[in-house]
Amino acid sequence: MHKIADPGGALLFDYDYVARRGMESLFRTFENFSEGTFVVDEHARVVWINKRYAARFGFTNPQDAIGLDCEQVIPNSLMREVVTTGKPILLDLLETDREPMIVTRLPIKDDNGRTIGGVGFALFDELKALTPIFAHYSRAQAELAAARRSLDHARRAKYTFASFVGASPAAQEVKRQARRAALVESPVLLLGETGTGKELLAHGIHAGSARAERPLVTVNVAAIPDTLLEVEFFGAAPGAYTGVDRKGRVGKFELADGGTLFLDEIGDMPLALQSKLLRALQDREFEPLGSNRIVRSDVRIIAATSADLPALVAEGRFRADLYYRLNVLSINLPPLRARRADLLPLVYAIVEELSIKAERHPMGLRDDALQLLSDYDWPGNVRELRNVLERVVMLCDEDSVDAATLAPLLGARRASPVPVVEPVTSPGEPSAPAAETRPAAAAPMPVPVPEAPAQSYAAAMAQFEAAFLGQALDACGGRVAEAAARIGISRAAFYKKLAATRGGL
Ligand SMILES: Nc1ncnc2c1ncn2[C@@H]1O[C@H](COP(=O)(O)OP(=O)(O)OP(=O)(O)O)[C@@H](O)[C@H]1O
Ligand SMILES: [Mg+2]
Repeated sequence: MHKIADPGGALLFDYDYVARRGMESLFRTFENFSEGTFVVDEHARVVWINKRYAARFGFTNPQDAIGLDCEQVIPNSLMREVVTTGKPILLDLLETDREPMIVTRLPIKDDNGRTIGGVGFALFDELKALTPIFAHYSRAQAELAAARRSLDHARRAKYTFASFVGASPAAQEVKRQARRAALVESPVLLLGETGTGKELLAHGIHAGSARAERPLVTVNVAAIPDTLLEVEFFGAAPGAYTGVDRKGRVGKFELADGGTLFLDEIGDMPLALQSKLLRALQDREFEPLGSNRIVRSDVRIIAATSADLPALVAEGRFRADLYYRLNVLSINLPPLRARRADLLPLVYAIVEELSIKAERHPMGLRDDALQLLSDYDWPGNVRELRNVLERVVMLCDEDSVDAATLAPLLGARRASPVPVVEPVTSPGEPSAPAAETRPAAAAPMPVPVPEAPAQSYAAAMAQFEAAFLGQALDACGGRVAEAAARIGISRAAFYKKLAATRGGL
């Protein structure tokens, strides 16, 4: 009985009945007009799916899809988000292996407002009416694909072993160990002062390994605030983390799957994350933040640090078990002053590369200029050498540069009059502590005021900043975290400024 007569004889409708019919016909209408409809329970498991939709995702019998997680049936489905948040996603595009579909997802609530499931409709036919939006979307997709391609390119190794210049016995030993490391799968630990080529070698090892065609993904531990590191490593589930968009985030561990994960400045890793990293390395799986999803990832680890890891272990700032796990194959990169025979070949190789980049004649260096470079202590190692040469190539128009032109560019860390101790490190052994081999550099030095007339304010400030940061680094034996603390800025800010003054090197 759906009509009720009131005592006066007028007809009243049964409101509940109309509401119920309304819901049903809404569902039927959507079902008829949509190409696909499916319903999930509160755990996002499929409880019903229509035949057409099931067939589109490879299930000839819809029954086979019942009980499966929605993502197992419809890859990229966001139904789990709907049942978790209880909020609808009224209009969205669902990527499929064929054309994308316009989808609507609604939560199903019980009488108490609790979400007990969700229903999704896919409206492919409606795409025709949505052609302008779709054209816009396709364009955005094409741009995304191009961006991804260039990212893929960026994730390839930039250097090979051939990029590592040096024929001194110490350099040859480093290359020999690196080649050997490329042939195996165990973790590699690269140790050495700042600017000695750890990152370059990491690229070389990846490029020489069986994983060369897979990504090389870098995490610079020191450059990322502690609070963001876990997400950076392991990713986050949708909505798990404020500041991450609702679709969540893929961590570097997952991005590097099948390839190499380069953990730069590993000595700066907070202890809590060290435990998680150790677990991920042991189990080869991890859980993104806020998810109950287990991600398996097959990565080869290369870690690098300029810090004294055994000392950090002794101080309790680095987990001994993680250290032993990473320290299977360690390579010590000698400081430049311990392999002086490589200085001139490095100068020639770098000047040639920079001259080609700057589209100028290969710049020459007079004997006195070469002598000046040879006498210098190079606390910033090859990176510092490269920076100096970059400035020479940029600033000097002459084809041949002399010592007088070069000297001011060596900045505050100019040649120490104290005789430099020649190779103290035998290949494969840890390098001697920085302070022992460069007494002059470690002593505090006044920051010079750049010679004014030739300079713009910006250039003068940049020079000051570079010298100031360099001094702070020297005073702390190349340890960025310590240098940053000493001058009162964050590690991340220190890195950023350093990269800016070094032109991104
Ligand atoms: N043996 C080498 N041959 C040619 N270039 C080198 C060599 N070693 C280092 N370089 C160059 O010096 C610069 C610094 O090297 P890299 O970034 O690998 O140093 P690093 O050891 O990672 O330093 P940091 O500890 O400060 O991160 C780069 O531009 C790199 O190409
Ligand atoms: Mg580095």
